[in-house]
Amino acid sequence: MQSYDTDTSVKNFIVFEGIDGSGTTTQLRRLSSMMERNNIPHAITAEPTSRPEGVLIRRVLRGDIKAEPGTVAYLFAADRYQHVFGEEGILEAVRGGKIVACDRYCLSSLAYQGIACGMELPKRLNAIFPAPGLTLFFKIDPEIAMRRVHSRDQLEIYEKLHIQKQVSAAYDKVLADARASGWKIAVIDAEKSMDEVAAQIIAALESHLEMSLER
Ligand code: TYD
Repeated sequence: MQSYDTDTSVKNFIVFEGIDGSGTTTQLRRLSSMMERNNIPHAITAEPTSRPEGVLIRRVLRGDIKAEPGTVAYLFAADRYQHVFGEEGILEAVRGGKIVACDRYCLSSLAYQGIACGMELPKRLNAIFPAPGLTLFFKIDPEIAMRRVHSRDQLEIYEKLHIQKQVSAAYDKVLADARASGWKIAVIDAEKSMDEVAAQIIAALESHLEMSLER
């Protein structure tokens, strides 16, 4: 993993990471309501994005378009570049005083694309992106996570138990490397109830942002 200059860390940029079915999307929605209750300027966002780059990625993830694993790594990096540095992007929002919470970021590319095309390319492509102020990793047994995912209608190419087991193991390594590079990472027990997970997230944010939050 590339070494991040801690000066580039953007304190109010928060990332949720985890395997598929770990509950990041549900918890981001709850976080948005909590921020509203607390009158905190914020933006909730996700990768892949809803921009054309992200829409193309979704077509690959559904299996509608075939692409080499390396191509997929480039697509995620291109989507991320626009998302971070572009107009109305993450940096613009944090510099404008918002707390930005994002569903997935570089560590997803290192874990998922790392499995498919090896670590070298995703590491290189992601070295330019700033470290978030805080990453919350949703830890969950892949079997439990896949039971949640399989109740959905349409599955994406990664949403299979044997792949999620590999992604889970890849995250362990990627998280250790990110920590060693100075990333601040908190682990959330995502097997708990939705309310208990939300409480863990609020506690982590209170400590990181040094403020108390109305539940
Ligand atoms: P996900 O957050 O699971 O979206 P949804 O819950 O709406 O299906 O993200 C979609 C998939 O994209 C997920 O399987 C992880 C994968 N992904 C990567 O492989 N690399 C990346 O860099 C990112 C951001 C996501």
